[in-house]
Amino acid sequence: MSVEKLRQADKTHLWHPFTQMRDWCAAGHDPLVLVEGRGSMLIDAAGDEYLDGNSSIWTNIHGHSHPHIVRAIQTQAAKLAHSSFLGLSNEPAIRLAEKLVALFPPETLTRVFYSDDGSTAIEVALKMALQFHQLTGHPARSRFAAFEHAYHGDTSGAASLGGIAAFQDRFSSISFPVVRLADFAELEALDRPTTESLAGLVIEPLMQGAGGMRTWPEGLLRDLRAWCDRHGVFLILDEVMTGFGRTGKMFACQQEDVVPDFLALAKGLSGGTVPLAATLTTERVFAAFLGDYAEMKTLFYGHSYCGNPLGCAAALASLEVFAAERTLENLSPKIDHLRALLAELAQDRHVGAVRQCGLIAGIDLVRADGSPYPWQEQTGARVCLAARRHGLLTRPIRDTLVLMPPLCFSHDELTRAVGALRAGLREVCAEN
Ligand SMILES: Cc1ncc(COP(=O)(O)O)c(C=O)c1O
Repeated sequence: MSVEKLRQADKTHLWHPFTQMRDWCAAGHDPLVLVEGRGSMLIDAAGDEYLDGNSSIWTNIHGHSHPHIVRAIQTQAAKLAHSSFLGLSNEPAIRLAEKLVALFPPETLTRVFYSDDGSTAIEVALKMALQFHQLTGHPARSRFAAFEHAYHGDTSGAASLGGIAAFQDRFSSISFPVVRLADFAELEALDRPTTESLAGLVIEPLMQGAGGMRTWPEGLLRDLRAWCDRHGVFLILDEVMTGFGRTGKMFACQQEDVVPDFLALAKGLSGGTVPLAATLTTERVFAAFLGDYAEMKTLFYGHSYCGNPLGCAAALASLEVFAAERTLENLSPKIDHLRALLAELAQDRHVGAVRQCGLIAGIDLVRADGSPYPWQEQTGARVCLAARRHGLLTRPIRDTLVLMPPLCFSHDELTRAVGALRAGLREVCAEN
């Protein structure tokens, strides 16, 4: 099929996520149709190559089409692509669970529940937390606390936790109420009845993603852990974005030596190849669900593709690449290089705040006088479109540019990526 025919068929039949489809389908818009990924690069149907500046929406870890992961998926597909996980098991899922648990201190996160994506990984944690409190005699613990600007996914349960009005407001009639917090001080100030109504507290550790790449104060995670322990509230960490090396360690929680009661993983779990999610929890939580069938303690929750062997084989292969390529050990100089590049970029008068956490960066665009651009002008989107012409693909959050490359990016690729953002910024923001 020619690129033109593909574009036309796309515009005729598809509905893309988080996309204003009137603009997408407009006559002057030529959607980029990707056909291939190789390492840090994505290649479109016209043969043009782009650096993958946001790891294909924060998923890719070791680069595209990594031969070891490709081989693992191919081998597994030829053996068993899928089988039910309801009352049955499979080898990759078992082996992966062992490996995931071993990434944490012994006897901490010992149980793995598989699902499909970040939203479901969170949904599982919420339902487990609620049911745990019911099963252990605390049914009044039925609410969750979450933060302003939080993002935990788009299914209704996960979305209820979200603190971004633009995603939230229309669906308030099918959302559950959440105890909304700005910071730790507000958590500490909660009155006793509210505290005792909490089943769990949910946070994106170290950095909030979709809320605008906002960094948390150092030590917050440790403080939250201590507060949750004091008050019998579960600490639920959403590492859907921060997991698998993005912050410089395998998991963000390891930066503060914190182990949560629930840990949600997705995106990078399979190296960013096949949809797969995992919710890890403790033996204490797991034990509460054990009993005679008639006691109705069973967790009645699951999806058709839970424990998918392809996803688990890909995830196992991704962990093997981490070891073989010493991915984590090699991150520190890349993070330093990115820091230096961002410091230089921050000199531009159209750059306001710059926030970095490991290999994740958020760059706020401002007018020359330091004031924000009206969001309706979509300055961030226009800068990213201009950066595309300089060989970089990424997507902003409103007027915050996002750079979150796969961990395999070289120093040179980081330099080129920041250079493309700078070039895009100069083209778009030159006027004001
Ligand atoms: C922190 C966080 N949690 C959850 C999600 C939802 O993940 P998914 O889009 O795979 O459902 C996202 C997605 O961006 C995320 O960044």
